[in-house]
Amino acid sequence: MVDRNPLLTSIIANKAREGVMKRTKGKYPAPLEALDILVRSPRTATKKSLRAEVEATARLATGSVCKSLISIFKGTEAAKRLGRGPDGEAAPRIDRAAVIGAGVMGGAVASLLAEKGVTTRLSDLSPDALDTALFEHRKVIGTKLKRRRLARHRADEALDHLDVTRDGSGLARSQIVIEAVAERLDVKQAVFGKLAEVLADDAILATNTSSLSVDAIAEGLPNPERVCGMHFFNPVRKMPLVEIIRGSRTDEKVVRAVAALAVRMGKYPVIVADVAGFLVNRILGPYLDEALRLFEEGADPARVDRLLEDFGMPMGPFLLLDEVGFDIAAHAAQSLHEAYGARMTPTKALDGLLKQDRLGKKTGLGFYVHGTIQKGKRKGKPARPTLAEDLPVFKRSGEATALTDDVIVDRLVLAMVAEGARCLEEKVVAGPAELDLATVMGTGFAPFTGGLMRYADSRTPAALAERLRELAGSSAIASRPGGPERFAPCTLLLEHAEAGRGFHG
Ligand SMILES: NC(=O)c1ccc[n+]([C@@H]2O[C@H](COP(=O)([O-])OP(=O)(O)OC[C@H]3O[C@@H](n4cnc5c(N)ncnc54)[C@H](O)[C@@H]3O)[C@@H](O)[C@H]2O)c1
Repeated sequence: MVDRNPLLTSIIANKAREGVMKRTKGKYPAPLEALDILVRSPRTATKKSLRAEVEATARLATGSVCKSLISIFKGTEAAKRLGRGPDGEAAPRIDRAAVIGAGVMGGAVASLLAEKGVTTRLSDLSPDALDTALFEHRKVIGTKLKRRRLARHRADEALDHLDVTRDGSGLARSQIVIEAVAERLDVKQAVFGKLAEVLADDAILATNTSSLSVDAIAEGLPNPERVCGMHFFNPVRKMPLVEIIRGSRTDEKVVRAVAALAVRMGKYPVIVADVAGFLVNRILGPYLDEALRLFEEGADPARVDRLLEDFGMPMGPFLLLDEVGFDIAAHAAQSLHEAYGARMTPTKALDGLLKQDRLGKKTGLGFYVHGTIQKGKRKGKPARPTLAEDLPVFKRSGEATALTDDVIVDRLVLAMVAEGARCLEEKVVAGPAELDLATVMGTGFAPFTGGLMRYADSRTPAALAERLRELAGSSAIASRPGGPERFAPCTLLLEHAEAGRGFHG
């Protein structure tokens, strides 16, 4: 009936198109092409329909989006091979792990390890933290069982594979210890120091630190070559990336074993040098700070978020700041500033907002209102948080009104591109393909672009260098501390611009 009724067909087609546009924002052409062919096919001869299909496929397969998605796919395949040695030999299998710290990160890491068949002992000083972690583990596994994502015997094994300890007993046979305790050097060193006394000499000590140096944590420990970073992102189960941080003394075999474990946990590992912010947070830092600068200049956060979502980010920077939490964001910004100086100078924009009851989503209030807060507890969850009404009034004058959509997007995205280029120059990651994968999997950077550096290539380094200089010279950026430095193109970018080639060659 639908086939024969053009009105009905057109209504259904429009609805379907609306659905596709909502999900893809028109950035992925394949579903729209498929829909068009489907809608036309009942009124088109089979041969003509088939030809249309062939032509559309050829067009899509040679288009830039397809090439970008294939390059990301290749990146994921390469990441899965990181656990293998130069001759393709697999890293020794890890079957017994310990996780120290049963908070937000440690609890989830331990749960995932247990689900993937690794016998895991979770240790925390707080019985409440252990109870919560066990409760969450049972809940996740129970839900998976109910939704048939796990067979009954697998669910039973996942529950059996996790046990907990309050006094740190029963950890001696662990092949790897992943610590996720408080973000303090002395606490982390003390935890590893104590464990080193009971563990085998070759047991791996992995830290989930997000801002401390792996080398500093390894300092003074026996066999520092077995220390490395295993940086998960929050929420652990959802975020597909794990940064494997190679300290200056970390053994290659340790890096491979940890990468193999990450792959077994269903993650994509990327190997990163032991630099402040590692890779993803180092690139995100200037992006988030630049968003706050725009806010300071009078830009409306909702407008900025909408523009960045239209660009292809999963959420805009202000919503992301709410997700991360103002306290964590301010702490990360400060440590980037200490490490990199002027170009990471943090704005004071958050200072007025940073209060115990306003830290972002976790308190129900940040740039947005995330739900009704009653007696300190968040109730209800609106489909999309609404912009808070008590934000300092946007000046809507001077520079802010002159901010075009292009300038807003470029200030944010090119702040990341400039930092990404510096990371390649300093060899923080193996190359642009690894960096692209990390940005797509770690920040959700628009996958249809192929990742940050492929996006940079699409604009050409020569054009980028010019645009960066233009931004650096604009009055809002030129007049603030560290502004010009943030947008200064690095030597590698200038070399590519000079040679007329992209980061990917
Ligand atoms: N939360 C994030 O978004 C995030 C993301 C990536 C990395 N990290 C890093 O992960 C680590 C943990 O962060 P979190 O957010 O899970 O913290 P958290 O505060 O939720 O949990 C820390 C847990 O460690 C326990 N603990 C503290 N000292 C201990 C000790 N000596 N022995 C055993 N347990 C101890 C605490 O009781 C607490 O339960 C930090 O290094 C943090 O920087 C956090």
